[in-house]
Amino acid sequence: MALNLLRTKSVEQSLNDADEPEYQLRKTLSAFDLTVFGIGVIIGAGIFTLTGRAAHNAAGPGVILSFILAAVCCALAAMCYAEFASTVPVSGSAYTFSYAALGEIFAWIIGWDLILEMFLAASVVAQGWSAYFGTFLDQITGKATGQHVLPDVIANGANGNSVPFNIDLMAVLLVLVLGAIMIKGIKESMRLNRVLVILKVTIVLFVIIAGIAFINRNNWSPFIPTPVSPESAGVAQMGGMTQPLLQWMSGSSPMIYGWGGVVAGAALVFFAYIGFDIVATTAEEARNPKRDLPIGIIASLVICTILYCVVALVITGMLPTSEIPQSAALAQAFTLVGKPWIAIIISAGAVCGLTTVVLTMMIGSTRLLFAMSRDGFFPTPLAKVSPKTKTPLALGTIVTVVCAIVAGLTPVGILEEMVNVGTLAAFVLVSVAVIVLRKKRPDLQRPFKVPFMPVIPILSAAICIYLMLNLAVETWLRFLIWLVIGFAIYFGYSHWHTRMQTGKTLHDGAAPVESAPVQE
Ligand code: ALA
Repeated sequence: MALNLLRTKSVEQSLNDADEPEYQLRKTLSAFDLTVFGIGVIIGAGIFTLTGRAAHNAAGPGVILSFILAAVCCALAAMCYAEFASTVPVSGSAYTFSYAALGEIFAWIIGWDLILEMFLAASVVAQGWSAYFGTFLDQITGKATGQHVLPDVIANGANGNSVPFNIDLMAVLLVLVLGAIMIKGIKESMRLNRVLVILKVTIVLFVIIAGIAFINRNNWSPFIPTPVSPESAGVAQMGGMTQPLLQWMSGSSPMIYGWGGVVAGAALVFFAYIGFDIVATTAEEARNPKRDLPIGIIASLVICTILYCVVALVITGMLPTSEIPQSAALAQAFTLVGKPWIAIIISAGAVCGLTTVVLTMMIGSTRLLFAMSRDGFFPTPLAKVSPKTKTPLALGTIVTVVCAIVAGLTPVGILEEMVNVGTLAAFVLVSVAVIVLRKKRPDLQRPFKVPFMPVIPILSAAICIYLMLNLAVETWLRFLIWLVIGFAIYFGYSHWHTRMQTGKTLHDGAAPVESAPVQE
């Protein structure tokens, strides 16, 4: 049988599928819910932990520019997402968009990248949560350095130790509880999300207000330190596999700081912005998606950018670059300036804050797998929604169990860059897809349109690629392995079972699925 890798699924067909009763989600979310949902998933491990690492190991006070560069990249991509989400308001986000615009193989690649983004982010952040939870327990019980409340065998990385066999029990429990909430229903998940988001934003504002008093302007000078070798700045050996791909390709010796450091910092803190794109995965649950999705995507991104830049300014003003803590930076910075009680409050806030990220990433992965299974890339019956909860029960359970296993048993906590590479690759494809769909389907109604076409999508793709090239060599290798596994699944199963291939409808065996009119 011939391969047809570029067949597309028409926008109309995607919209029709979303109306099938057995595969239909409940439409309850407002623009406000979507913005809160966005903030809930954006503010998380990135700002609470990566700010310190990016400042200390890459950019110095210039990390503020890293945050701005990453925000510009996200803002450009956000406009492309917003145009798509308002035109094709169907679960699956970038995956659905590229199925309509670029063709099946690209839809698969993007879907596979997004699975990487969301599954891994849920597990990475669950372990971050567990680490903060452990720290919080140690802080409130007054444990001395090196002493912990949780025994090593159930604390995995949280205690910073390695016993021969250990499980990150707190991360597992978190995932299981959140999985149960997610399966119960989107409205319940949103209610919990809303409470936790208020708490989290309050903590971030608290960091800013409490930190201002400790700012010493001398710490901002030089704002972009002159490039030096990592060793001379007291940064752990960075060479070979751990240096940015671009640096490795140019054959130059590893350096940190300078403009290169700002960009490498941006490639890392990009993680802190991930999540606005996931708003688009809930398209079928929005009451008025055409208007509310662009509002939710753009508003959540703008609010988080402002908060991040101010936090970065405060933290780099509080301590000299060489003293900025590399993990749990926000909390530890206050311990270092002699205010441990503030550190306790921040740890408590991080525990709440990271909870919503894990929940939202789990919801996002379930909705993406839902859209992909409904199209036949994975077995279609998996996409059935429970008549009672109106959520995809089987997929919700699979996502919960897999995340619990990965977060509980693997050293996934250090793989933020893997999440970044998957997301950036998806952004590149979405930026290209928005141009292609404008050309292929000028007739579609687009309530939100990217301005200055095609400059913005081209710029968006270019900046994403530039950031990708600034990720570590080892991240690229892992990403390539992930893609190879993805192609094996696609050519081994998915290509032969998509409904575009079999011609089956969601009711099995009825009329064939139509291709996009432009293809014919
Ligand atoms: N943006 C999310 C975080 O920082 C993934 O945790």
